Amino acid sequence: MSSTADPLAGKPALAPIGAESDGRSLAQRIAELGEWFHNLDLHGVHTAPRHFLGDFPNIKWQPIGKAIPQDLTGATVLDIGCNGGFYSIQMKQRGARRVLGIDVDDRYLNQARFAANTLGLDIEFKKCSVYSADEISGQFDYVLLMGVFYHLRYPLFALDKVIKKVAGKLVFQTMIRGSEEARIWEDDYPFWNKEIFRDPDFPAVYFIEKSYSHDYTNWWIPNRAAVEAMLRSSGLEILERPESETWICEPRRSTQRGRYILDLELEGTL
Ligand SMILES: C[S@@+](CC[C@H](N)C(=O)[O-])C[C@H]1O[C@@H](n2cnc3c(N)ncnc32)[C@H](O)[C@@H]1O
Repeated sequence: MSSTADPLAGKPALAPIGAESDGRSLAQRIAELGEWFHNLDLHGVHTAPRHFLGDFPNIKWQPIGKAIPQDLTGATVLDIGCNGGFYSIQMKQRGARRVLGIDVDDRYLNQARFAANTLGLDIEFKKCSVYSADEISGQFDYVLLMGVFYHLRYPLFALDKVIKKVAGKLVFQTMIRGSEEARIWEDDYPFWNKEIFRDPDFPAVYFIEKSYSHDYTNWWIPNRAAVEAMLRSSGLEILERPESETWICEPRRSTQRGRYILDLELEGTL
């Protein structure tokens, strides 16, 4: 991860930037910000036209965007692991009042700030880890946790923190591997039942010790059943699954006896 200085930090959104600035073309300025993971369309110039997943994440957004209201006037949005800002930009363009994107990588944050400024959008981008999300004040109508879960060594710890920020809906996306079947399982099994663990549909999370897809930050990759079980276990109700890796949820049982699951677990009283 880059630790380069942050030239656009704290600057307010600007009027849309035209094709030329300081004698450098928009394409040159995009290239100077390093390799992009998000393929954004900045006035006709694409930031990652040769992405290995195609027109990413626009291909993901097509079904997901249909499950989110077109008009987000007045809504607040927290985009965790915002990367180059694609989803923050989409939410702002639907009229969200406040959009805050957080990420741990300065390169991506600089790209996101540049993109928002170029498009004349007032979006806040801040360096902040998902593990500190619970320190951000207030709650948000929409919290996006997309493409981050499997990059974490402590995924449920993070999810239980993120839930504290959700006033409305959580849009959750993760890579999944293994079975994509969802079945209803018993509430309990005898100690000697080892069969369930041989069933590929049983909730399971694969641990990657070294690297997957040339990325050593891929740690835990769940199957579908495990994702849904973990979301429910963190007190979320699954409302929709607009595409195979994305779930839209609402916190319904994220507190017990008036306390969040995270706090009860950390003090040993869950
Ligand atoms: C695979 S990208 C997903 C980007 C975007 N959310 C999407 O779905 O297209 C993962 C992003 O999570 C960020 N990230 C990794 N660890 C993080 C952490 N602990 N807190 C916040 N962001 C993190 C990375 O810097 C990267 O931008």
